[in-house]
Amino acid sequence: MKRRDLLGSGIALGAVAAFGAPARSADAVDDGLAFTSPPVVQTPLCDSLSISWTTSGLANCWVEWGYDRKLEFKSKASHHGLVELSERFHSVRIRGIEKKRIFYRLAAQELRYGGAYRIRTGKTIHTDIFSVNPPDADAESVSLTITNDTHAKNDLLDVLIARVNAIGPDFHVWNGDICDSFNSEEQLARICLRPGTAKSTIASGGWAANRPLLYVPGNHDVRGLHAGSLVKAMSPWPLDPDDPPGLNRSSHVSGRYCFALRHGPLALIGLDTGEDKPDRHPAFAGLADYEDYRRAQKQWLQGVLKRPEIKSAPFLIAACHIPLRGLKGDNDGRTLKGYAYYSGQGHDEWMKPLAEAGCRMVISGHTHRPRIQKPDSDCPVYQVVGGGSRANSAALIRIQADKAELKLTIEDLKAKQIHQLALKR
Ligand SMILES: [Fe+2]
Repeated sequence: MKRRDLLGSGIALGAVAAFGAPARSADAVDDGLAFTSPPVVQTPLCDSLSISWTTSGLANCWVEWGYDRKLEFKSKASHHGLVELSERFHSVRIRGIEKKRIFYRLAAQELRYGGAYRIRTGKTIHTDIFSVNPPDADAESVSLTITNDTHAKNDLLDVLIARVNAIGPDFHVWNGDICDSFNSEEQLARICLRPGTAKSTIASGGWAANRPLLYVPGNHDVRGLHAGSLVKAMSPWPLDPDDPPGLNRSSHVSGRYCFALRHGPLALIGLDTGEDKPDRHPAFAGLADYEDYRRAQKQWLQGVLKRPEIKSAPFLIAACHIPLRGLKGDNDGRTLKGYAYYSGQGHDEWMKPLAEAGCRMVISGHTHRPRIQKPDSDCPVYQVVGGGSRANSAALIRIQADKAELKLTIEDLKAKQIHQLALKR
C-alpha cells in the first residue's frame, strides 16, 4: 500500500492534539472552534476519495480513518510541504484505500497566527465517526438518488436530504444548479457543504457523510463573483495523465468536473454542459470559455468509454445538467436569443460516442419539468429530466440496478412516483 500521504499512520490519536499547546496567555486561542458543515465525501475512486467540510475559524485539519473504528491512519492536505490552513474550507483526499469500507472522523485544531514564530494552537475537536464505501466494480447491485435545480431552496433541500437519507443509496448525484449564483464565500460554503436549514444535519452527517456525493455543475453554479471559489467546496476529480488540456487550463486550480465511475453493474459518466448561451453572448462579458471545454470533454469521453471497467458494465448512463436532447422547437443555446433548453453543442459532441458505447440514458435537469423522453429514430438514448425548485415541480430521481435490470423512477416531494422506466440488459 502506498502511504506517502498518510502522516503518522498508527500513532496514538490522543497524542496528536498535544502538539504545541501553549500555556494560556494573551495569545491563547479561545476554544470556540466548531465544524460548520457535516463531512461531504466526494470524487470517489476505488482506492481514494476526498472529504470536504467547513470550520468556524482558522484551523489545521486532518482526517483520521481506517478499516475499523480504531482509525489507524491520518491524512492531511499539504502542497509542496506546506500543510493547508484555512479559516473556512477544508478538503482532504484519502489515498491508498485497500478495502471496501472505511471509517473516518474529521479533526480540526484551532490556530491563531501571530507570526512565523508565534503560531498558537488551541484544542482539537473531532466529529463523530462515519463510514463510507468507495466504488466497487464487483458489487452485486447499485442504487443512486439524483437531485437537480435545488437553487439553494432550503425548505426543498430539507425534504430531499431527509428522503435521500431514508432511501440510503450508494451514491447521491447533485445534478447542477445548486445555487442561483455564488455571491460570497460564506454563501458558497453554506449552499455546497451545509445545504438545508437543519442544524442537526451537522451532527447527523448531512447527505454525503456516509455515501459519496457526485456533483455535476449547472449553468447557475458558474455565476456570481465567487463562482471561481466553487472548487474549494465541490472538489474537482483528480486529473489523469492523458486528460486533454482543454478540461482545465488554469495554472493554479487542478482537476476536472467530468467523471467516469463504475459501481457494480453501472458505469456512470458525468459531463459538464457549462453555460446555457454561446460564449460570445454579451451577458458573459468575455468570461465564458465553454465551447472549447465541451470539445475537450468529447476527447476525454472517447478515452474513458474505452476503459475496460466502463466498457464491461452491464449498464452505461450519463448525467449532465442541461439535457442533450430537446423537445420540438426547443432552443439549443447556440444563438444570442434566449437560452438553451438543451445543449446543442453537448448533443453534437457527446451523443454519438455515448450512443456508440451503448449508453442507455442521459439524466439532466435545467428545465424544471420532469420528463422521460424515449429514444427515437434520431437518437437511441433516453433523455430523463428531473424537477424544479418549487414544491409543485421538485422531484427526486432514483435508480436501482442489478446485472439484469435497471429501474428508474421519478418521485415528487411526497414520494409519489410520477414517471418510471425499466431497462433490461
Ligand atoms: Fe439550469
